Amino acid sequence: MPNSLIIKKQIKKFNKQITVSGDKSISIRWVLFSSLANGVSTAKNLLMSEDVLAAISAIKQLGIKSKINQNVCKIYGRGVDGYKYKKNIIINAKNSGTLGRLIMGLLINTRYPIKIIGDKSLSKRDFKRISDPLSKFGCKFKLRKGKNLPLTIYGSRNLEAINYSEKKGSAQCKSSVIFGGMRSRGTTIIKAKKSRNHTELLCEYLNLPFSLKRGKSYDQIKVKKVKKIKTLDYNIPSDISSSAFFIVLTALSRDSKLIIKNVNINSSRTGIITILKKMGVKVILKKQKLYKGEKISDILIKGAKSLKAINCPSNLNSGAIDEFLLIFLLAAKAKGISYFKNLEELNQKESPRLDWGNNILSKMGIKTIKTKNSIKIYGNPNLKLEKKIIIKNYLKDHRVFMTSVIAALSFGGKWQIEDRDSINTSFPNFLKILETLKK
Ligand code: S3P
Repeated sequence: MPNSLIIKKQIKKFNKQITVSGDKSISIRWVLFSSLANGVSTAKNLLMSEDVLAAISAIKQLGIKSKINQNVCKIYGRGVDGYKYKKNIIINAKNSGTLGRLIMGLLINTRYPIKIIGDKSLSKRDFKRISDPLSKFGCKFKLRKGKNLPLTIYGSRNLEAINYSEKKGSAQCKSSVIFGGMRSRGTTIIKAKKSRNHTELLCEYLNLPFSLKRGKSYDQIKVKKVKKIKTLDYNIPSDISSSAFFIVLTALSRDSKLIIKNVNINSSRTGIITILKKMGVKVILKKQKLYKGEKISDILIKGAKSLKAINCPSNLNSGAIDEFLLIFLLAAKAKGISYFKNLEELNQKESPRLDWGNNILSKMGIKTIKTKNSIKIYGNPNLKLEKKIIIKNYLKDHRVFMTSVIAALSFGGKWQIEDRDSINTSFPNFLKILETLKK
């Protein structure tokens, strides 16, 4: 199959029901927690993407066995101290910031140095944000250029609790320090700016020595050394960040209607829904239920007749952090000027995504004003493209690829989008599901 995708036609209106694959954040966390459990944990609907498979390979390097059959996975945990540390372990986190960063917290007690490597995109990303707080527990790190992969962890057997203030709203930083706290003597106290809270919900569900006080913009977390973790059987719900491509495709397609089944709608992840509603799109959450602390529902979405511009409040940034490329497409079609600010974290992703969002819009002929951390988008409700647009050299950022596909299907034009295999990191079924909307 060629690795570039050509799209020359807009999608016709559709009325369908789909199911997207398992949540990436929960899948990776399930692998890591299960690797520390006493006994066999089973996950159904585990996301079978490269990021999650990299997590399974990482724990294998640490002596933890697993079995995969379709999308059911079993992990044979050997307890909290069950990792088999030996000389010359190299963990390849590939494209996954979540894996590379979270696992560092679990490895701070390693007996021998462990090296973490990643692909070209991950090797450009900041790991000092993790090594700085983790060093305070008493271990050491060596990083390329002081901040990048490859890095080496020099563990310690004498780890002491820390106080840490997480100010970026990064769930990866917060989670890594929670893991570090689980390995250290005393009570680690974290003041964390609001961000996705799957790690905390799992700590609560597993009854770990952990407490959480929720505040308006910051939470306070306390975590103590963990001695035992029970096995964790989990039915992984669908990923709202993967659903978002279809949600936005529907919103941009007048008279279309879509139901997405069994999606995780944890309120720390639903910024996209709040933003869509503010822009005048009809989104209904049906059959809501709670599962192991996570909220799940079906999502019904209807194509919008018109879209309102938005001055996006920054407190929605963290809950929509992986969806901004798509949100920019909505703004491109909205009536008026939309404004998004305090988005410095967006350029810290698999590619500099604020820049890429701007590139895509510029190629579409949309006027924008971009600064280091904000963008103004001058919407054009009548936007209809005819020109040729090429998307390439974007560090294989899966979300750049999929957003470009949604733009092509929504606005027309002749698109050539390179590196279709980038979807394998988070959503290998993306193009297959898209086909079902065309039938
Ligand atoms: C993730 C946290 C977010 C998000 C990433 C997944 C997680 O990153 O962008 O795709 O699973 O914890 P940050 O923690 O850097 O904001």
